[in-house]
Amino acid sequence: MAGRIRPRRIVVPEVTAAATETSAPAASFVPKARRLRRLLVVSNRLPDLRSPALPDERKRPVGGLVSALQPVLAARDGLWFGWSGRSGPTRLFGMDDASHPALAWIDLPSELVRDYYNGFCNRALWPLLHSFPSRMHFRDDEWTAYVAANEAFADAVSQIVADDAPVWVHDFHLLLAGAALRRRGHRGRIGLFLHVPFPSPDLLATLPWHARVVSDMLRFDLVGFQTPGDLDHFRRAARAVAGCHQRGDVLIGDGVRARTGAFPIGIIPEDIREDASAQTNEEIGALLRTTASTQLVVGVDRLDYTKGIPERLCAVERLLDRSPEWRGKVSVVQVSVPSRAEVPEYAEERRRVEHVVGRINGEFGEAHWTPVRYLYRSYRRSHLAQLYRAADVGLVTPLRDGMNLVAKEFVAAQDPRCPGVLLLSRFAGAAVELRDALLTNPFHVDGLAADLDRALRMDEDERRARHARLLEAVERTNAATWADSFLRALEG
Ligand code: UDP
Ligand code: G6P
Repeated sequence: MAGRIRPRRIVVPEVTAAATETSAPAASFVPKARRLRRLLVVSNRLPDLRSPALPDERKRPVGGLVSALQPVLAARDGLWFGWSGRSGPTRLFGMDDASHPALAWIDLPSELVRDYYNGFCNRALWPLLHSFPSRMHFRDDEWTAYVAANEAFADAVSQIVADDAPVWVHDFHLLLAGAALRRRGHRGRIGLFLHVPFPSPDLLATLPWHARVVSDMLRFDLVGFQTPGDLDHFRRAARAVAGCHQRGDVLIGDGVRARTGAFPIGIIPEDIREDASAQTNEEIGALLRTTASTQLVVGVDRLDYTKGIPERLCAVERLLDRSPEWRGKVSVVQVSVPSRAEVPEYAEERRRVEHVVGRINGEFGEAHWTPVRYLYRSYRRSHLAQLYRAADVGLVTPLRDGMNLVAKEFVAAQDPRCPGVLLLSRFAGAAVELRDALLTNPFHVDGLAADLDRALRMDEDERRARHARLLEAVERTNAATWADSFLRALEG
């Protein structure tokens, strides 16, 4: 194994976006002999690199990818490489090998952040992969930036690891990175795990570059999905678009041999349980005191249109309207973490959410009771766990979601003697395993309102029985089993 690389910040010459696909890699920033043989994990998003003491902690970016990878990588001797979250005029590389897990990062030029991240990733791929065709925007210049960003990541990766080291790439930002690495002579295993859903082949075909995307995904040795449904969509696309045939779990085509599988992501349930039963944090304590005389319904999401926040609030409104006996008896706490705020659809979603919150509180609020407490900010997971535990109902109702870790965290945080009810969308990947949640259709406001009413009235015996089975499922496929099974399949 190569020697440990000390924390440092290294500047390499800028590589222009246009030059990257065909040009030679940027000047080496780790001498070849010292390139790593240990596992390299690559994702666009990294754990927040800022000091936790900074005042904008409220805006700390969060997401399931970082939540799941952080603990499993901290327990392994791997290195995690990604975008720093910063932009600037040049590409800067940095590395911190003393952190757990060890991190390496790249700052991206601002035009690339605009066209690759805000543009192609969040306005083309995100709505496409979540099956929101009306929100898709396809632009040639943003596709070009996506190609360039994938090449830039591949350049950096080939500077960090030895040619035969295993590389595990994550998510939709880097679908072309495996093929780009192969072109740079990487011989080691390369795996891809997609954290988001994969759409049906006919919707996928609306993407003008879908054939290139599918054929580059097939250059990975292993492609993993959250659910059997996503896996099936990908296999059908590989057959239709790339002419592959399937033998067992392997897709075989012209120069292609990619193993595929479903690997549902999970959490570390003990960590959540421990946080949930710790002494209550001051701020969460204050929030719980203001809602103490009512039943508590909690929603926790990034502010994203896939999460169905306005739809669920409309169901709360419908419940208060149709069943006046709930007025003054139920409080909703909705944590909505700022996310992708520079993307127009996200700014619009924020306005929609705030409009509905204002309408409900205006219509039903009293001096002593605020129906919806809306918190546009980020909390530490340890504090969220206390909020989950105090809740009578966890409202996890995305319109579409790859998995949804909040659902699993909610289950793990409950007191098994008197657990809350998980009201879960059928369209979250988590619904495949969490069959004992109260499953609901978030597109049907009346139905969701009726299901919320049922959740609020559920007796303790039913809550306990459902929770015991849910907890078993959350413990069975957790973050550690997810990483182990993926990496075993990659090695095999
Ligand atoms: N999260 C957090 N602080 C918050 C809100 C959410 O740390 O204020 C975490 C949450 O605990 C979960 C992740 O963000 O681990 C969200 O993951 P999920 O899979 O539910 O959705 P995603 O954001 O990845 O779409
Ligand atoms: C989802 C995606 C992740 C992403 C996260 C937060 O979970 O699957 O790849 O990191 O959302 O989004 P962001 O754009 O802030 O990275």
